[in-house]
Amino acid sequence: MKILLKNLSSKLLHAVFILLLFTVFITVSLINIDTISVQTIAAEVDEEDLPYCKCDEEGELKCEDDDELEYAEEMECECNEEGELNCSGGEPDPQFVLGQKLFNGHCAPCHGINGDAEAWGSSFIYPRARDFTSGMFKFRSTGSGEPPTDEDLIFIIKNGNPGTAMPKHGDRFSEEEMTAIIEYIKLFNEETFEMEPDVFEIGDPPEPTPELIAAGREVFMNAKCFECHGMHGRGDGIKGWQDNFKDDWGYRIWPANLQHPWELRNGARTQDLWRSISTGLDGTPMASYSDAYSVDERWALSTYLKSIQWEQDLEQPLQISLVDKTPTDTYDPVWDSVDYMDITMGGKKLFGFGVVPRVTNARLRGVYNKSEFALMVEWIDKKPNKADDNKPPDSLAVYIPIYSAVDAISNINLWNWRSSDDQTYEMAGKTDAQMKKQKNNDIKAISSYKDGIYRVILTRNMKTSDSSDIKFEPGKTIKVKIRARDGEFHEQGKVGGVSGQVSMEFKK
Ligand code: HEC
Ligand code: HEC
Repeated sequence: MKILLKNLSSKLLHAVFILLLFTVFITVSLINIDTISVQTIAAEVDEEDLPYCKCDEEGELKCEDDDELEYAEEMECECNEEGELNCSGGEPDPQFVLGQKLFNGHCAPCHGINGDAEAWGSSFIYPRARDFTSGMFKFRSTGSGEPPTDEDLIFIIKNGNPGTAMPKHGDRFSEEEMTAIIEYIKLFNEETFEMEPDVFEIGDPPEPTPELIAAGREVFMNAKCFECHGMHGRGDGIKGWQDNFKDDWGYRIWPANLQHPWELRNGARTQDLWRSISTGLDGTPMASYSDAYSVDERWALSTYLKSIQWEQDLEQPLQISLVDKTPTDTYDPVWDSVDYMDITMGGKKLFGFGVVPRVTNARLRGVYNKSEFALMVEWIDKKPNKADDNKPPDSLAVYIPIYSAVDAISNINLWNWRSSDDQTYEMAGKTDAQMKKQKNNDIKAISSYKDGIYRVILTRNMKTSDSSDIKFEPGKTIKVKIRARDGEFHEQGKVGGVSGQVSMEFKK
């Protein structure tokens, strides 16, 4: 009863806390929305809607009759210094009204009501949403420092920015709505969009031959891409490890992991890679390489980058292979000879927007023999942490629910590995909330971090003496769920990448 009450009160507290946060969020948004009427960008008044008035030599307003004079006042008309009629009021342009409505509803929670990314939600996301007032755009088919084309903007709005909070909008907006949105965005920095950009002609990608890929690898080494992106393009280059690696807005930034196509923000096709390399990403340390390398060299490089992208193998169940001896080395050749399964990791949701976890994919392999089962989990982490710099350690959790009937979980086993001491702690309990450390720790951990990749082998006997432990046997199918957390980003506990339940089968 006591436990129940404690549980209940903590849940209640949790709910009250969320409610409070939400109220603050709504209030802040409302305050912001209130202020827009003051700060809106003045709409243009159509020529034919102007009153029949003129400015005389003295700069005085002269109208055809009193009705027109009244109308001129309503339209807030004045004579400016050049002696021209200037009207700022009246009915705003319907495209402007539509753009503003859509922007404030769909984009402002991150990009800010004033387009400056000063939104309450923005401080929670990495990378921060774009500040449109800066006039700097990362994703363009145009030269460095130039505005993106309409197509560039539409590409990002439709496809989102994988690996960031920028959502995919697909075909949610009609053509008219899309035009209204992008025209509205341009108003945040009109000067930039007055520039006539040099648009890159992106041709068709060449055939990916082994020679071309090898030539591309050479450009990769020659151009020192590895200094930031790591020797194999996993975003683990030494420059990215430095604390002062920042974008022009002053925020910490990381080189992209070029092996996970689903994390690439500017598109993952060969022609998208060519565009990123050619134009650079303004506002970031990713420069344009169009002066340093020829069109063909950039195609070779893009072809190489395409060739190192992972292809997710999501097929279930993962076959756990029978072997003579379970490996004690994370790079034992046995691991190359058995099947693997990829699992996609998601993050928690905050006010309906998915918080993107740092670990987006875990690759699992399993082997067993008469006495032991060894599970190896592999994932990309740009910089290893061992609980230093006031950050939590990198960590991994493997949940194994034990099913008594088809849908009923009778017990959960939880194996918690952390990088700080390279140990794994075995826990068990009936529910998530009741997890307890077990007296006998039956899990052996072996780990490595190399070229941006963590590999952790967790080995346990097929059967143990603990009654709450799952028993493994040939032919059996088990379910697992994985959490992997990146300490560098303060991920710990329930914050971090988490998978759904996947199945694995002990192959007879
Ligand atoms: C949940 C937060 C969120 C919402 C909602 C959101 N964005 Fe974004 N947006 C981002 C983030 C974060 C980035 C920056 C990604 C990066 O830096 O790589 C971004 C980037 C962009 C870019 C790319 C800018 C560049 O530098 O090339 C455009 C364009 C954009 N957003 C437009 C929109 C529009 C239009 C909407 C509404 C229809 C919208 N966004 C809604 C978070 C959001
Ligand atoms: C000085 C560091 C640095 C160097 C050198 C560098 N990059 Fe980058 N690169 C970055 C950063 C940082 C990003 C991510 C920017 C962001 O988060 O928006 C990036 C992004 C990219 C992207 C786009 C990723 C996406 O999300 O779409 C590609 C492609 C890329 N780099 C390829 C290369 C290649 C190829 C080279 C060598 C010719 C190279 N980079 C050299 C820092 C660097």
